Amino acid sequence: MDKAYRIAPSILSADFARLGEEVTSVVRAGADLIHFDVMDNHYVPNLTFGAMVCQAIRPLTQAAIDVHLMVKPVDRIVADFARAGADIITFHPEASEHIHRTCALVREYGCKVGLAFNPATPLHYLEHLIDSVDLILIMSVNPGFGGQKFIPGALTKLRAARRRIEASGRDIWLEVDGGINADNIGDAARAGADTFVAGSAIYGSDDYAATIGRMRARIAQGVSQPEPPVDQVPEQALARV
Ligand code: DX5
Ligand code: ZN
Repeated sequence: MDKAYRIAPSILSADFARLGEEVTSVVRAGADLIHFDVMDNHYVPNLTFGAMVCQAIRPLTQAAIDVHLMVKPVDRIVADFARAGADIITFHPEASEHIHRTCALVREYGCKVGLAFNPATPLHYLEHLIDSVDLILIMSVNPGFGGQKFIPGALTKLRAARRRIEASGRDIWLEVDGGINADNIGDAARAGADTFVAGSAIYGSDDYAATIGRMRARIAQGVSQPEPPVDQVPEQALARV
């Protein structure tokens, strides 16, 4: 595989009582990024952790910290996460009043800019923003909780996002988030994803290195197979383009 594929364990499913150790363990096990799910009990019906926790884990690893903001409003929390050591800051366009301004703000702080699309959020937000983003995150569950089931429609959306990235000519990462495991990661890779968030599948396993290793093998397998013809894509998937 000459293309870079990145595994991003979500610490949402880690043992919070041993968070530091859980971060270093997944990095030792082969993780490329640490996915940091920030939920505010307002944009999503759950509450997790803020910038102070990001700051606490920052010195523990060289791995990039991939902050996924599920918060509304977005702008006032961007500086806190940038100062806490975030490398990537991804937000949901519906949660920002002025999406272009939020993208510029994240970039001003020297972080990569990510835009996240819920299962029902259309990709058309990208039309005027593709030059402002470094990462597109396709949600394959509705945001708010770990351990949910992968929504197959995300595959169609990944393909569409991959086409837009190719048309842009820019090096934009395509991340998939929600319900990813060794059984479906190959399909997501084949549909165009290059960055894979997995919470429960990694932290819920007994051997993080073995799970990440299996995921990498399935990615390699997935991308070596041809894409299924459109008439074999599940109908549910097409309905969500
Ligand atoms: C959902 C989060 C995801 C999710 C990943 O709102 O953004 O990062 O928790 O966890 P799993 O892999 O368990 O779906
Ligand atoms: Zn996430």
